[in-house]
Amino acid sequence: MARILLGVTGGIAAYKSLEFVRLATAREHAVRVIQTPASTRFVGRASFEALTGAPTLVGDHDADPLRGAFPGEQIDAHDPITHLALAAKADLFLIAPASANTIAKLAHGFADSLLTSSALAARCPVVLAPAMNNLMYEHPATQSNIARLESRGVQVITPAVGRLASRDEHGIGRLPEPQQLLEACEQRLSAARGLFDGLRVLVTAGGTREPIDDVRFIGNRSSGKMGLALAQAALARGAEVTLIEANVALASPAGLRVIHAPTAAEMQRACEEGLPRCEVLLMAAAVADFRPKARFDGKIKKQQLPGLTLDLEPTPDILARLAGARQPRQTIVGFAAEHGERALALAQQKLQTKELDAIVVNDISKPGIGFESDANEVTIITSSWQQAVAKASKRSVAERILDAVARLRSEGEASR
Ligand code: CTP
Repeated sequence: MARILLGVTGGIAAYKSLEFVRLATAREHAVRVIQTPASTRFVGRASFEALTGAPTLVGDHDADPLRGAFPGEQIDAHDPITHLALAAKADLFLIAPASANTIAKLAHGFADSLLTSSALAARCPVVLAPAMNNLMYEHPATQSNIARLESRGVQVITPAVGRLASRDEHGIGRLPEPQQLLEACEQRLSAARGLFDGLRVLVTAGGTREPIDDVRFIGNRSSGKMGLALAQAALARGAEVTLIEANVALASPAGLRVIHAPTAAEMQRACEEGLPRCEVLLMAAAVADFRPKARFDGKIKKQQLPGLTLDLEPTPDILARLAGARQPRQTIVGFAAEHGERALALAQQKLQTKELDAIVVNDISKPGIGFESDANEVTIITSSWQQAVAKASKRSVAERILDAVARLRSEGEASR
């Protein structure tokens, strides 16, 4: 159970926030609602009051009869400043729907309503669910406001694609379903509750290179950006991170232990040594599936080329071996780059055959994501649930993967 402060801004999707409150209170979260004046044209405060069992606040100088308390809590004798009290007590601040106007204000630190002042005072995790017409959402102004908020740690839930409110309009901008909003909030809450604090996390990144001779190798296009983003995100959450990297040209973040493992054999050795000391493995490296059977000494000369053949042998599947020998309470996450419409089904198979807790799959047939790019779009698959993460920066995707690890670990705890 958590204290969720819900901010509702002016938009047709405001009606979905009522359902969010119903679902959240059914899960025993205590919810308080702040509406912008514009949102009351779409949904009245009385509806939220009936569902939360607490007054809904709208005006900048509204006194709060509950003095900042959440439902079920004792009312303080002291009369606090409303926008400070609610934000200080909340475990999470969800703004849904978040209009383009409110997003712009938040990005620039405006405090011209109870909602925006509370957001400025909030030090709890802030989750934002934009909902608007697709043209407004895709406008560079909105996109740069969202990027600015994300860079400050605000979690932005990408809107859904589908029919929009205005006639015959279709595109990105729909508020996701209330159940999805609740799941996002619960994942963020468990992540914020220190699940990663002191947790030992092993991350692999980059792509292995299998030498043909002293100059040439068989390699792949992995840049290591996804693995680095995971290491950085885990570090920011207080984890003790070991990064095993294969041929990553980018600087690794300070504060983590880095081990270089340029080939599959070295990666295997480093992982086998590192994993027994860790609770989580995020196997983001692209490990070669095959390597030359023999390595030529020196450099193969052109004259040797006619008739030259390379004999290849398979490399051991490091991830499958590690998962097969796992200790209790270890969470093992694999990655899969698949091509085309069978991507999810193929990843599902890998989840089972490699005995993983989760697999993160991206469809490499989609343009602008994956290898070398700064963005990614993935689906996280576990044996009991699946979560699509819409296209976002690799850092944002890394946060969602860590949220999924947090969820898996807390579900494991609950089933014990
Ligand atoms: N992996 C590994 N050791 C290998 C090959 C892959 O540990 N020799 C890991 C990768 O780091 C990744 C996951 O396995 O986390 C999936 O890798 P992928 O190459 O997509 O799967 P494969 O099982 O090798 O199947 P295929 O290449 O046939 O798709």
